[in-house]
Order: sequence, then structure tokens, then C-alpha cells
Amino acid sequence: MTNYYDSNANGFIATTRDVDMSDARERFLAAVPARADGPARILDAGSGSGRDALAFRVSGYDVKAFDAAPAMVAATQAHSAVETRLMRFEDFAWEHSLEGIWACASLLHVADAELPGVVDRLADHLVPDGALYLSFKRGTGERVKDGRRFTDMTSETLAALLDRSGVFGEPDIWESRDCRPDRAFEVWVNAVVVKR
Ligand SMILES: C[S@@+](CC[C@H](N)C(=O)[O-])C[C@H]1O[C@@H](n2cnc3c(N)ncnc32)[C@H](O)[C@@H]1O
Repeated sequence: MTNYYDSNANGFIATTRDVDMSDARERFLAAVPARADGPARILDAGSGSGRDALAFRVSGYDVKAFDAAPAMVAATQAHSAVETRLMRFEDFAWEHSLEGIWACASLLHVADAELPGVVDRLADHLVPDGALYLSFKRGTGERVKDGRRFTDMTSETLAALLDRSGVFGEPDIWESRDCRPDRAFEVWVNAVVVKR
């Protein structure tokens, strides 16, 4: 499923690196707890071009990233100067806890049946009060488009996915339009949740 991002790396980066995601980032950062002994640790999960890894680093956070596509790992490192690992959500493990995990338009490539386990594993890596951001295209079920598999979500199915983990407080869920001019018809379902 990551082939698309290796084969179309230049085109994908060109159309996503300058997208203005500042609203969602600010909503997420407002929920990320401070850390007593250093900057809060944020993981950009499925980091693509490195747009958000750079923004978090410039804002003073301790940022790391991972992605399943080698071309995206290289892009994130080159653009953001953030240490980026080659890793899949399905194999996710990290050596320390995190104040925030940012999964922007990336968990949508995980199979529906695997999402509960992946969300549980991400939650396991959050400190108490740690925040998770995730976003999906609005819809229901799974589909394949241009060689990519998507799991779509509505506000209700996303709320149910987060609720079933049993570790999060009430989610902040909202819909937004795609920020790319030629994609303004696409609707995204976003959520920020905090681990209890
Ligand atoms: C639509 S892009 C989003 C990239 C970036 N977060 C952004 O918002 O621009 C999806 C990203 O998820 C990565 N990805 C796809 N499947 C993945 C998986 N199973 N584990 C980790 N990353 C994955 C892709 O390589 C790609 O970089």
C-alpha cells in the first residue's frame, strides 16, 4: 500500500508540503500537555512530506517521525531535519512515551480490521493526558483508489473507534474541507483525543 508514495513521491510532496494545516495543528497543540523536564515529545506518524514535523520542530517541540514509504522518510528528514524512521503503523513501537501523536491523513491507509489494535498501540505510547490527532476522509467502509487502500470514517464511526479503546476522554471531532484548491469537494473527519 505504500508503493503509491514511493512511485509518486515528487508529485505527492509538491501538492501537500505547503498545505495550510495550521488550524488542526493548533487544535492538537492546545491539547498536548507540557513536560516538566524538557519540551513535549511529538511523534509525526505517517509524516509524508515532513510539513508538520517541521512546523512542530520550529515551534520548539521535541519531534520524531515515521512513515512506511522510504521516499517519505527521506522527504521528512530532508524538509524538517527531524529523525524519521521507516516503520508501519501495524508494527508500531517506540522506546519512550509521548505527549502527542499526530497522525494526519495517515491512519486512513490502515485496514479497518487493524485500526482498533493500531489505535490501542498508539494510546499505549501516550503519557497520561497525552493527545492524539487523527484524520480520515469522510465516508464508510474501505475502498481502493489509484492503487491506495482507504478506510473512510464518519464522525460516528470515528467516535466509536476511539470509544472502544476505553482510554480516551470525550473526543473533539470536527469536519473540514480539503485545503488543496482542486480537492475542496473532499471532506475530512478530524479528531483530537486525550488519554485519561
Ligand atoms: C495521505 S499521506 C499523508 C502524509 C502527511 N501526514 C500529510 O498530512 O501530508 C499518507 C502517508 O501515510 C503513509 N503510510 C501509508 N500507510 C502507512 C502505514 N501502514 N504505516 C505508516 N505510514 C503509512 C504514506 O507513506 C504517506 O506518507
